[in-house]
Amino acid sequence: MDDESALPAAVRAALHRAHRQTAGALTEQLEQAAASRVRRRPMSVNNLAPVPLSDEEVPLVTLSNPTLSLDQLVLTGQTAAALREVLNEQRHRSRLAAYGLRPRRKLLLAGPSGTGKTRTAEALAYALGIPLLKIRLSAVVSSYLGQTARHIERILEYAENGSWVVSFDEIDLFASEREDSDHGEMRRVSTILLQQFEEYAADNLVIATTNHGAALDSAMWRRFDEVLVYKHPTQAQIAELLEIKLRKFPTKINKEQVSRALAGLSHAEIEAICQDAMRKSVLSGAKNINTADLVESAASRKKRYKEAGKFQN
Ligand SMILES: Nc1ncnc2c1ncn2[C@@H]1O[C@H](COP(=O)(O)OP(=O)(O)OP(=O)(O)O)[C@@H](O)[C@H]1O
Ligand SMILES: [Mg+2]
Repeated sequence: MDDESALPAAVRAALHRAHRQTAGALTEQLEQAAASRVRRRPMSVNNLAPVPLSDEEVPLVTLSNPTLSLDQLVLTGQTAAALREVLNEQRHRSRLAAYGLRPRRKLLLAGPSGTGKTRTAEALAYALGIPLLKIRLSAVVSSYLGQTARHIERILEYAENGSWVVSFDEIDLFASEREDSDHGEMRRVSTILLQQFEEYAADNLVIATTNHGAALDSAMWRRFDEVLVYKHPTQAQIAELLEIKLRKFPTKINKEQVSRALAGLSHAEIEAICQDAMRKSVLSGAKNINTADLVESAASRKKRYKEAGKFQN
């Protein structure tokens, strides 16, 4: 039996595909690393196994047990509906399998900063009652191909022995169309990782996020079962966000006026403004959070964001 035939068919297929689609050197290193060990699947899942480390002893992944529920997020009806469907499919995997169907597993969340992409990955893990396994791409990619291949192997070995939502939260690093050496390397690594997750961890939901959906090429888009677009909140969504973020405080606010003042900001920026108002209310001993608190904080933050070149309106 030669080295390669000792590998499961799925691994061989993924490696062959990676071979065709990526520069040969990294794939060769990955093949060697994969062939040099016998794959074993432990009988039980041990969520507490120490996370895999890079050759420089930097964690290649982080593990967490999120506690955020999806209904704490203000999302468009379309996105919320798609996420509910994805959860439903995940929960009824065996029913789908009986008909030869698989749930949607690979999601791309695309949209501006602070609109809830990272939080969505957390909320999905929470809804499924499993941990979130975040891949730290910056730790994975090394200037030495052999190291990168070893890192990928370690992540896959770890990831396949548990149920988690897997997330790549730094996809922007490799989303660029440019093919200079660093970006090219990131793209190759991400391509291989996405392919490998398809073959290895058939049950895990894999979520990638990007701020630059438009910059992803069509080959990348095709790798996902679902692409969800995130946007800044509408006026109605701002009002909903205020309800959620200020729910612990008594308020006396003109929602329309406040929503207008907050227009154009991201969910995260609006959250920060709500926190400004809550802090102010606690320290001043005021009975209520009022319209002026929020409008003033919005104006002053918008001014600062504009000075920092962030806010375009
Ligand atoms: N849709 C949302 N509903 C409620 N809160 C939100 C939403 N989006 C963002 N927030 C709040 O803003 C903060 C940042 O959100 P998150 O990290 O998910 O943004 P992101 O889209 O991943 O941003 P980035 O692209 O910069 O990584 C969180 O604390 C979260 O509570
Ligand atoms: Mg994020």
